[in-house]
Amino acid sequence: MQSLLKDIKGLVGAYKKAPRFVAGEEMKQFPVLENAWLLFENGVITDFGTMDDCPEVNVETVDVVDCTGRYVLPSWCDSHTHLVYANDRAGEFLDRLRGLSYAEIAAKGGGILNSARALREMSEEELLEKSVSRLQSVIASGVGALEIKSGYGLSKDGEEKMLRVISRLKDISPIPIKATFLGCHAVPEDFSSATEYTEFVVGQMLPDFVEKGLVDYVDAFCETGYFSVEDTSALVDASNELGVKSKIHVNQFTTLGGVELCVNKNVLSVDHLEVISEDDIEALKRGMNSDLPTFPVALPICSHFLGIPYTESRRLVDEGLPLVIATDHNPGTAPSGDMLEAVRLGSIKMGLEPIEAIAAGTLNGASAMELDSEVGSITPGKRANFLITKEIFGLEVIPYRLNDAVVDKVYVNGDCWVG
Ligand code: NIG
Ligand code: FE
Repeated sequence: MQSLLKDIKGLVGAYKKAPRFVAGEEMKQFPVLENAWLLFENGVITDFGTMDDCPEVNVETVDVVDCTGRYVLPSWCDSHTHLVYANDRAGEFLDRLRGLSYAEIAAKGGGILNSARALREMSEEELLEKSVSRLQSVIASGVGALEIKSGYGLSKDGEEKMLRVISRLKDISPIPIKATFLGCHAVPEDFSSATEYTEFVVGQMLPDFVEKGLVDYVDAFCETGYFSVEDTSALVDASNELGVKSKIHVNQFTTLGGVELCVNKNVLSVDHLEVISEDDIEALKRGMNSDLPTFPVALPICSHFLGIPYTESRRLVDEGLPLVIATDHNPGTAPSGDMLEAVRLGSIKMGLEPIEAIAAGTLNGASAMELDSEVGSITPGKRANFLITKEIFGLEVIPYRLNDAVVDKVYVNGDCWVG
């Protein structure tokens, strides 16, 4: 079935041929075609243009949608989530409100170890069921491509269970999903050090999971009290040798030199960066010289929820970098998969213009999962995954309306999913 959206107030991210990503000043130029039409068929975008050359279509055979006053945006591309988990951690939240820090809660056996215990006790079927329902709700909120990490298994069986659930989600999902093996997330109680556990992950888990086809990317939590730069380096080297790229949690609470390591080893993205040094920024700028840079990923829902600094996204864009925004959807530090909220915080808390925040949450997010040939912009040949807003004054209404739902309809592979 062919469909035509017409009289679109602004068609966002419309490229006849899209770049892989936008960086620095290009982010403000993320295109918005005014007074536009969009044609799609069999789930794929076929063409677009301005209303002065709108195609004549037979309304008996073509589904025509009037978009007067509305914007059409590429669906969100959420490149960093921990969507597969057993239970939320609302109990710890009370500890937080009473003044305990993330590290203090972890030291009491809370945090990642708490999620690992709950995951161990839950059957794969139940974990899948819970994850499917989260996946359905993020798709309904406008996410059109997703990355999901393991990392709450903390044993070979547990990590494999998580990766199998991610693989089963891929099989049933209407949107593309990338699986990240977050092998080094926390040190389980039966290991004496992060280095000892890293050796186990590298020797006993990684090759087996890669061979089973369960791994698109590898991840580590490079942080004081978790995994050192050396541990992270060992994991990245081992995965590079197997031809698997990495996406690394780094600089959430402290800066250890992990960013430079990641750039030097061609890591696909460095995620968090709530604290960042001049050396880190210089390293990221050097990374712009390779074919695909190391993408800096800001996770503002985590900053909001934990009350920690926001990533200096304005600065990173002003330095010419291809900023990405993602949710970090997880039960401990960002209990939400709402990309609209992440993009909104991009403007309210990180000083980005709405169009820059949108580019960070769409095309750049797609590239940080190497899914940019399929999603991330309104481009002929890409999936017809997009959102239609309500009638709004301009894109600035997205951050301005705070928690109002500005999205009216969500399309997935050309089908109207919501609205
Ligand atoms: O991205 N920081 C490491 N991992 C997650 C949090 C995991 C958790 O607390 O459950 C994050 O913030
Ligand atoms: Fe995370």
